[in-house]
Amino acid sequence: MLRFDSVCYNAPDDGADIIKGLSLDVNDGEILVVTGPNGGGKSTLARLAMGIIRPASGRILLDGEDITEKGITERARLGVGYAFQSPPRFKGLTVKRLLSIAAGGEVDDAECCRYLSRVGLCAADYLNRSLDATLSGGELKRIEVASLLIRGLRVAIYDEPEAGIDIWSFNMLVNAFATLGREKSGALMIISHQERVMQMADRIAVIADGTLADVGETKKMLPLLTDIFRKDCIKANGC
Ligand SMILES: Nc1ncnc2c1ncn2[C@@H]1O[C@H](COP(=O)(O)OP(=O)(O)OP(=O)(O)O)[C@@H](O)[C@H]1O
Ligand SMILES: [Mg+2]
Repeated sequence: MLRFDSVCYNAPDDGADIIKGLSLDVNDGEILVVTGPNGGGKSTLARLAMGIIRPASGRILLDGEDITEKGITERARLGVGYAFQSPPRFKGLTVKRLLSIAAGGEVDDAECCRYLSRVGLCAADYLNRSLDATLSGGELKRIEVASLLIRGLRVAIYDEPEAGIDIWSFNMLVNAFATLGREKSGALMIISHQERVMQMADRIAVIADGTLADVGETKKMLPLLTDIFRKDCIKANGC
């Protein structure tokens, strides 16, 4: 279980409050979908969880252990994984190598194929491709998702996994997450704006203006989302 405990984060340049004392649990065996308006702080929260940035105050706990001061590598070793909103490219690193690194040891073609097909990619076409500029944005995104799926993570965080992905691959992605959800191993946090992704969540959290605007069971939250977004818009713009 991952716990954000009264976490605050300020922008490094001007010290602006980006995350304002936010507390949220991502429970084992649940799919938590985090949504909310652009610029609300969702990716910042994910980066805080992964240890890419550190909070100004508050704590981040993994199964009760305080990991606030631990770095990215240490958190990865503990089983925290993050699929970036915009995945980085690594010239020279092949897809097969990436999947092997992610899995923590050499994986054979059949195993790679199993995970790439979950995100709608044909392994034969991709295994020896380099993660460079020649891959399209959607291909890169799906490979990154596969590289997280292949890891047995305690906490997996996917940041808008649907972004830039075609509708057929999106359907596969939703199925892959549903399977993960059914396996109920570890905690799964998906940042998303897609209703279909929200529908398979156990709980939905809305993050707006660096705060937790609301959180609750999916059945309760889905009908409320329009109102929550509208209220946030009124607060931010007076519209
Ligand atoms: N290093 C930084 N310096 C200044 N502002 C920052 C920094 N990092 C994030 N921000 C600002 O913090 C806010 C939250 O950003 P974040 O990327 O977390 O939003 P988000 O909820 O993921 O949005 P989206 O839905 O568009 O992906 C934004 O207004 C962003 O411009
Ligand atoms: Mg974001």
